[in-house]
Amino acid sequence: PFPFYSIMRKRSPVYFDEKSEIWNVFSYTDVRKVLWDYKNFSSEFEMDGILKGTIINLDPPAHDKLRALVSDPFSPNNVGQLSNRIKDIVNEILNNVKGNEIDIISELAIPVPVRVIANLLGLREEDLWKFKDWTDSLVGVNDYSTDKITELIEYLSEIIAERKTEPKKDLISLLLCSTVDGEKLTEKQLLGFIVLLLIAGNETTTNLIGNGVLTLLENKNSLYELKKDKQKMTTAIEEILRYRSPVQGMFRVAKNDVELSGKKIKKGSAVLAWIGSANRDENQFPNADKFIIDRSPNPHLAFGSGVHTCLGAPLARLEGKIVLSTLLERFSNMELVDQRLEPITNGLFYGVKSLKIYIS
Ligand code: HEM
Repeated sequence: PFPFYSIMRKRSPVYFDEKSEIWNVFSYTDVRKVLWDYKNFSSEFEMDGILKGTIINLDPPAHDKLRALVSDPFSPNNVGQLSNRIKDIVNEILNNVKGNEIDIISELAIPVPVRVIANLLGLREEDLWKFKDWTDSLVGVNDYSTDKITELIEYLSEIIAERKTEPKKDLISLLLCSTVDGEKLTEKQLLGFIVLLLIAGNETTTNLIGNGVLTLLENKNSLYELKKDKQKMTTAIEEILRYRSPVQGMFRVAKNDVELSGKKIKKGSAVLAWIGSANRDENQFPNADKFIIDRSPNPHLAFGSGVHTCLGAPLARLEGKIVLSTLLERFSNMELVDQRLEPITNGLFYGVKSLKIYIS
């Protein structure tokens, strides 16, 4: 999509698409404004199903009160305590690889985030195999299958009932005893919150890992630099997020008549902020189409901006770092098995369907 974004930033950075009736926003400054300015660009757009009324679909002040309930467990400090658990998961997977070939996506990038978030929520390890299927049917937000959601909700309701009688040290128990303005969460709020936490971090982190491995294999000099100096992992992850953003765009709805770079957007219009384009904007990032492993500063918008800035960002960064460092430590040689890669076709997500590499 990057050549297309580049043309749009030059020719029509705020563009109304007649067919879809969506305003498309391409420049860094405008994308940041749309994500930041919740008073004009609201997240309370029409949405059906379980995620309606969750923090991703609410504006302040309701948004902030609900989000505050989980800000502590997702803080960098608390998330950092999961390091060893994540390393164990990654090593266990790599120990079980047979032969010299691994599909980074299906064998590593999919299971790691699912297992980590299930751990945090307090879900049973033996139930994990079901999640991928359930959460896959939810991610599109529009294209979910009702049966799967019913199954997921039944399963979660059981766990909730268990925790009511016997609380544990997990997120579900925490949410169960939390209050907003003195009131406990309703069953619907509780389920929505859990489902959001369960799905928001899966495909996104999968793509961060896949895009990261791909980008390093395409930029072998960067890979060697990283091997020599592990400190560079911090900037490397940020640059991977900028260069190949797992979430390419986010929707908002105009809450008022509002002007953006000279275009008049009418109240009620759908607005699509193209994060993937903002992150390649030359006016913000010198040599924007180049992968620069120690790029600094790197104020990319891969995790959004403003009140909705990704809650799971510290966790995603940690998982990305651990997976990439472990691969670099364990294998002296990594090569793409096949140069032809198939992009995923899941809405605004960006990544590859499969990434087979040769390891030794
Ligand atoms: C919000 C991206 C991983 C949970 C967001 C937003 C973006 C994003 C762009 C902003 C949405 C908006 O502005 O409307 C990513 C990327 C990830 C990632 C690229 C991986 C590389 C995670 C993980 C979790 C998570 C691991 C863990 C549970 C959430 C939640 C929100 C959110 C709950 C909603 C926050 C709010 O509305 O206040 N994410 N995310 N994400 N993310 Fe992530």
